[in-house]
Amino acid sequence: MRGARTAVVLGAIGPALALNPLDTFYPPTLNDTSYISNTSIGTYGGIYKAPTNGPTEGTPYGTYDYCSMPHPRTNEYELPEPIAKGSVKGKLVYLEYLQRHQRRSPYNILPGGENQAYECDNVRTYLYAGPSSNNGIQPIPMYAQTYQDPTNPFTPGVNGTCQYPQITIGGVQDGFQHGKDLWAVYGKKLGLIPDAPNSRVWFRSSDSALTQGSAGAVLRGVWPKYDGALPLHQMVSSVDTVNEGYSCGAIDTTLAELEATSEWKAHLTVTADLRSKLGSMLGATSSSWQDTFDHFSDNFQARLCNGYDLPCSTSNSSACVTMEMAEEVFRAGDWEWNYYWRTNAYVKKYIQVVEGLFISEIVTRLQTVLDGNSSLDYSHTFIHDGDIGPILGALGINVLRWPAMASNIAFEIWETEGKKDLYARVLYSGQPIQTIHGSLEWLSLSSLIDILTPYVPEDITSLCG
Ligand SMILES: *[C@@H]1O[C@H](CO)[C@@H](O)[C@H](O)[C@H]1NC(C)=O
Ligand SMILES: *[C@@H]1O[C@H](CO)[C@@H](O)[C@H](O)[C@H]1NC(C)=O
Ligand SMILES: *[C@@H]1O[C@H](CO)[C@@H](O)[C@H](O)[C@H]1NC(C)=O
Ligand SMILES: *[C@@H]1O[C@H](CO)[C@@H](O)[C@H](O)[C@H]1NC(C)=O
Ligand SMILES: *[C@@H]1O[C@H](CO)[C@@H](O)[C@H](O)[C@H]1NC(C)=O
Repeated sequence: MRGARTAVVLGAIGPALALNPLDTFYPPTLNDTSYISNTSIGTYGGIYKAPTNGPTEGTPYGTYDYCSMPHPRTNEYELPEPIAKGSVKGKLVYLEYLQRHQRRSPYNILPGGENQAYECDNVRTYLYAGPSSNNGIQPIPMYAQTYQDPTNPFTPGVNGTCQYPQITIGGVQDGFQHGKDLWAVYGKKLGLIPDAPNSRVWFRSSDSALTQGSAGAVLRGVWPKYDGALPLHQMVSSVDTVNEGYSCGAIDTTLAELEATSEWKAHLTVTADLRSKLGSMLGATSSSWQDTFDHFSDNFQARLCNGYDLPCSTSNSSACVTMEMAEEVFRAGDWEWNYYWRTNAYVKKYIQVVEGLFISEIVTRLQTVLDGNSSLDYSHTFIHDGDIGPILGALGINVLRWPAMASNIAFEIWETEGKKDLYARVLYSGQPIQTIHGSLEWLSLSSLIDILTPYVPEDITSLCG
């Protein structure tokens, strides 16, 4: 956020390093495995803590915040530079908005069991079906109530009332605030989002309850008084172009190739001691916990982002994960995401096979705007970190930290007065994204299409093998 670019000294980094919020997105040494082992880096200014309740925001706003990434907000929002300076007059004509779901319970329960229960009685995850006609049966709004039955001999390894994963109350409240802020910028201020949903808005999610839960909360923030239902577009799960829906052998083989490199092995070597300690403390010695930092990171952030403590061993209550250990896990996770989507030798193919079809859909929508023939003004898609990461990679983000909860990409398309030229600005979590193509602050729409097009596979079937 340019408006909030006051440099702050972030305690964990030490007195020598003054970081502004934008800096926290782009650790300059993330490429190197010493980034993982260097404890003085801490979280590189990142925030990994939020209470159970309430929308949260990093301080100062705009800082990398795993629990709730910043998003466009009127306090900090600035018009694109040429318009703000008055050298060009123009208006926003299209918004392609992508976001990860809000904060949630973990996917991965510790194999040795969780020493704390997760409570989700404060959230209702609705699930009911009715006819499309308003005159037909109106179902009772049923919601899922997770419970434990003492006669069930199997244990999930965790007590409480949550499903894993599920959106948490903080996630719902955060989503509502996210939507209110989007309305204030793109509705009230810029006049693009209509007062009520119309045929020029379009919504999509993955087939996951998490993204669907976010959509209801965020869109209620956009339209607090709208009285009706809305379609949330979804593809058939088996062929979904987000969240790795369709099956493609080349996804696994490319992943295996990049994980066979010396760089990947070096990051496992520098973390051998940490992985071994966590493995024995938490019963997490299987390859799914040891081969990447995905599971530890997921498990720790879910606790920290929902008002809980880091876990302890269930057999020894004084053997606990320390914040220093968690920080090293988070640094290793950031290193892995940067490697997956930016620096590995197979990255172009990896992005193509994982996300190329969805990138193609975005390019197609941008192309219809360029052709002056778009049937939409505002498209909002609710997806996952595994979708946001490759799209940021395709944009050429300088450095990629793990795309955190509610991380978002806003493709803004502006039309100039007079010549009616179309320009793009791309915001990542509220700020112009810093890429190998420069800051995507103001570029012709056709240049943006040119940046993304190489990641659209020519023939996905043969690429997948
Ligand atoms: C560790 O990180 C700090 C802060 O970025 C830096 O000053 C220092 O040189 C690094 N140490 C090593 C050994 O890389
Ligand atoms: C879960 O609750 C049961 C019954 O209260 C208790 O015996 C068990 O120790 C708890 N497990 C954990 C991991 O807290
Ligand atoms: C429990 O954990 C603490 C802290 O790691 C350790 O000092 C102690 O020896 C452990 N106790 C047992 C019985 O393993
Ligand atoms: C990071 O790695 C990539 C790919 O190996 C390389 O092109 C780039 O120059 C590196 N960046 C830095 C800052 O070292
Ligand atoms: C514009 O879109 C309409 C319907 O979506 C289509 O029939 C028409 O051919 C398009 N025109 C151009 C110039 O692409």
